[in-house]
Amino acid sequence: MSVRRLDPNQPESFAFTPENAAWAETVIARYPEGRARSAVIPLLWRAQEQAGGWLPEAAIRHVADMLGMAPIRALEIATFYTMFQLSPVGEKAHVQVCGTTPCLLRGAEELKAVCKRRIHEHPHRRSTDGAFSWEEVECLGACVNAPMVQIGADTYEDLTPERLEKILDAFARGETPTPGPQVDRQFSAPAGGPTTLTELDYEAMARDYAARAGEAAPSAPEAHAATAGQAVASLAEASAAGAVAAAMADPPAGEDADEPANAGEGAGEGEGERASEDEGTRPVGLAAPRDGKPDDLKKISGIGPKLEGLLNELGIYHYDQIAAWNDENAAWVDNYLAFKGRIEREDWIGQAKTLAAGGETAFSARYEGGEAPAKEEAE
Ligand code: FES
Repeated sequence: MSVRRLDPNQPESFAFTPENAAWAETVIARYPEGRARSAVIPLLWRAQEQAGGWLPEAAIRHVADMLGMAPIRALEIATFYTMFQLSPVGEKAHVQVCGTTPCLLRGAEELKAVCKRRIHEHPHRRSTDGAFSWEEVECLGACVNAPMVQIGADTYEDLTPERLEKILDAFARGETPTPGPQVDRQFSAPAGGPTTLTELDYEAMARDYAARAGEAAPSAPEAHAATAGQAVASLAEASAAGAVAAAMADPPAGEDADEPANAGEGAGEGEGERASEDEGTRPVGLAAPRDGKPDDLKKISGIGPKLEGLLNELGIYHYDQIAAWNDENAAWVDNYLAFKGRIEREDWIGQAKTLAAGGETAFSARYEGGEAPAKEEAE
């Protein structure tokens, strides 16, 4: 941390523009009476922006006066935080080089050497044309992508001396280079691509989202999307937009609604993409509920409106159909809905047998009494 002193060359006065003064009043009004000083940092920041990127002493005094503070209190804050510049900075770029341990170990010294050579031997001094200045600062919170610099509000990460040179060249031309990692990585994801969560079946998870439409998507794919690459990010976006739900609406069997879902073609016929023979046997479905009267499958704990709709798409409308499933059938549906054993865990078949026989389960009794929402939604 360098010594932070006020610049010897100071303007005589400072006052907020009318717009900034009005803005400052709105900020001050956010705080209780007698606590106006709580607004000191945002006001100092706005003063720095107005003054061209640095805080003249007159600006510090002006803010202190507005807040009813002793000037020394505002000065203490301005000199403590490195976000406040106490000397004029470069007109095109002020480069803040992180010199804390991770960045130091990854090449911050070389970045400082570039700044010394191209800008000025000493920090807080401007280049001869006034376009650039630099300083060393403490950790800026991008350690995983060390070494890095901050220029204005942007960070430039995974830097090499050569890359920093090019960034400075771009600023010199009046351009703003693309901030963030300067190597092939997304945000702070591993360079070169994902190294974790690679085993997840995102297609299956997307189907699960659709089955649970209305619920928030699980966080794991979102986290993966944020860190692991565009393909997964696209999937997460598609899910958020409902596109995955639309994909789920693909008829699981023949498109002709007049035909039974399996149409006597043999289990799983035409459904090789979703369920192979290794993954069970597709249960026989019906083209429509018998007599046009489907059973209320939501009486089965674990089935809510969305799952009921998906089962209906499979030609499953009645308790006795589910009651007749063998292990292979249950495995196929479990796989199709990406439930990972949920059907067995929730004993859909046992519940369906009871209901098909005209009995009731503890859950169906509560459901009929209006005490239990469809289980799928209650979770
Ligand atoms: S150590 Fe440089 S950003 Fe944290």
